[in-house]
Amino acid sequence: MNKSRGYFITGTDTGVGKTAVSLGLMQALQARGNSVVAMKPVAAGCVPTPGGLRNDDALRLQQQASIDLDYARINPCAFAPAIAPHIAAEQAGVRIDINDITNKYSELSCVSDCVIVEGAGGWLVPLNADETLADLALQLDLEVIMVVGIRLGCLNHALLTVAAIAAAGCTLAGWVANQLPPALEGAQENINYLKSRISAPLLGALPVMPVVSAGAVADSLSLSALANS
Ligand SMILES: Nc1ncnc2c1ncn2[C@@H]1O[C@H](COP(=O)(O)OP(=O)(O)OP(=O)(O)O)[C@@H](O)[C@H]1O
Ligand SMILES: [Mg+2]
Repeated sequence: MNKSRGYFITGTDTGVGKTAVSLGLMQALQARGNSVVAMKPVAAGCVPTPGGLRNDDALRLQQQASIDLDYARINPCAFAPAIAPHIAAEQAGVRIDINDITNKYSELSCVSDCVIVEGAGGWLVPLNADETLADLALQLDLEVIMVVGIRLGCLNHALLTVAAIAAAGCTLAGWVANQLPPALEGAQENINYLKSRISAPLLGALPVMPVVSAGAVADSLSLSALANS
């Protein structure tokens, strides 16, 4: 993997496994000898601590990183309420600034082989009055990995997301089928249909797991399908 490579992890919705896949991907890349760090640039749903606001996803990404990083480098935009980020920002009296996030990303890309950037919610989540996460992914110049939460409605959500990624001018590097509990009847048929409709490679189909761990996710991912791997 080249210096400064990374991926933007999006999903068909909130709660579909973006963090689980981000952690597994980090572990799989680390197992190949890469120094891997991650960002959760925008997190709404943080708890106050003596050190400032903390988000569970960002803390887990921080823990999985190959090098020690200050929390603010991983999660520069942290908001307490678990609501749409641009509304949380408005309530906090700030504007989420894509350029600011891009600078933070560039700093991380200089100290690692790979930066995994986890989005928030789905692909078109607004960041401010004018921009969405799609604008951020485009500006970061990152290829996208889409996590599809295999549940009812996922075919529509997945195909809409694929179309929106292309419309934004971004490249879909691959996608992951993540089977969420309760298991969907006909899950494999849904995955087969998406395989036939999405030209980007399926990087892995994760089963419903009793315990979700980075190691188990990494074992289910096939990085060889990634063009940049
Ligand atoms: N394959 C799986 N089997 C069982 N549980 C899973 C699986 N994948 C994810 N989960 C569980 O589903 C929940 C949501 O997963 P995760 O936090 O990774 O989603 P997310 O897309 O990152 O959510 P958010 O939008 O809040 O960032 C977590 O409790 C996670 O442990
Ligand atoms: Mg998450």
